[in-house]
Amino acid sequence: MSVKVLVAYATFYGSTVEVAEAIADTLRKRDFEVDLMCAKDVRALQPYGAVVVGAPIAMHRWHKDVRRFLSRNRRTLRELPVAVFALGPVTAPVVEKEWVDARAQLDAELAKFPWLEPVAIEILGGKFDPAILRFPLNKFAGSVAASDVRDWDAIRDWAGTLPETLMAHPNYTGVVEPSG
Ligand SMILES: Cc1cc2nc3c(=O)[nH]c(=O)nc-3n(C[C@H](O)[C@H](O)[C@H](O)COP(=O)(O)O)c2cc1C
Repeated sequence: MSVKVLVAYATFYGSTVEVAEAIADTLRKRDFEVDLMCAKDVRALQPYGAVVVGAPIAMHRWHKDVRRFLSRNRRTLRELPVAVFALGPVTAPVVEKEWVDARAQLDAELAKFPWLEPVAIEILGGKFDPAILRFPLNKFAGSVAASDVRDWDAIRDWAGTLPETLMAHPNYTGVVEPSG
């Protein structure tokens, strides 16, 4: 029996939404019941037996809505299996340092939540479009080429590893608590 999974995300420019959708779809194909929600709209974690939370990194920071989501739900999340992802690298072909830096940036953010012990942490490629940036970011980044390095196979592959990883957590019960 599988639990109900929450996939919670935040986004600045939209590219993380499609990644979160792909993760949710992959879990549904593995027979999980999945709610896909904006992290700031999540009111109660009580119906969920596992959580996947992800957001972009911008200016070295993980999106504030997922940071607030973690703080708000600390008491529940410290007990549940939680998988974490972040979008960051946007350069193609791959620049290894960008991936290493993104992981270091995410690790620095997660270090602010020492009570959280994610069962999985993943950096995923992102999307960059200077045309949608507003002042003053467009002044800094306006000459950088647009790119989309979201690797849908890699995203689905990672999501495909989650059932086993989430289920290995000691508090994974396989039981969905009634939400009413
Ligand atoms: C203004 C700006 C700053 C960014 N800063 C970082 C950063 O510090 N580290 C990083 O790994 N990626 C950075 N990125 C890349 C984003 O994480 C990537 O574009 C991501 O796909 C954005 O997600 P969203 O479309 O859901 O908002 C930045 C992107 C922008 C536009």
